[in-house]
Amino acid sequence: MKYVVANFKANLTKNQIESWIKAFISHQPSTISHQQIILCPSFVHLHLFPRKQFKLGAQDVSLYPQGAYTGEVTAKMLKELGVDYVVLGHSERRRNFGESNQIVLRKVKQALKYQITPIVCVDKDNFTSQINLINSQLDNLSIRNLIYAYEPPSAIGTGKPEEPSKVEKVAFKIKHLSKALVLYGGSLTPQNASLFLRNPSIDGLLVATASLKAQTFLEIIKNANE
Ligand code: PGA
Repeated sequence: MKYVVANFKANLTKNQIESWIKAFISHQPSTISHQQIILCPSFVHLHLFPRKQFKLGAQDVSLYPQGAYTGEVTAKMLKELGVDYVVLGHSERRRNFGESNQIVLRKVKQALKYQITPIVCVDKDNFTSQINLINSQLDNLSIRNLIYAYEPPSAIGTGKPEEPSKVEKVAFKIKHLSKALVLYGGSLTPQNASLFLRNPSIDGLLVATASLKAQTFLEIIKNANE
């Protein structure tokens, strides 16, 4: 089973999301076999997706439980909205919002408490420390239920994906250390998607820019099947 995850980031309006959903539903292949498709819109757009038709992910979660934490969105709230996955520790959050390995660990724990699978984003510089920290704090079953996404910042939104052979080497190391599934993200397109999925250590794709148009995202799904 290969994963194809869409991260809309802070993009799209309500109307655009509604058009995206219509376009996706009317053009999707009748069977999407061997693939888990996960959509990660903004918190405020999660409710627009019919829960029966889509697997949903959030782009962040509070490191706190329910309580006096103004502005936070808890794992419990996300679970109620039908969220099964959450992207954590994206390099944009590490860079712009000061997220450390410790903070990511606390978010991982909150997510797991509500049966939400964390998709932990890592880079070459931090994957060893992040995975070792998570492994030291969680039981074996939880460790194997995580997903990691290797996302080199030089490839994010630049149109310059990392070489598939280089990604394979890093993904292999991440998999070895984490015993978990490993995705790749960074300038994925319908043209290059299958090049990455041919590698045995790469279990799926995390797509941002190319997911913003339903048709393009569907092409990635189609090509990822080949
Ligand atoms: P991109 O971003 O697909 O726009 O390169 C990937 C990501 O940030 O997850």
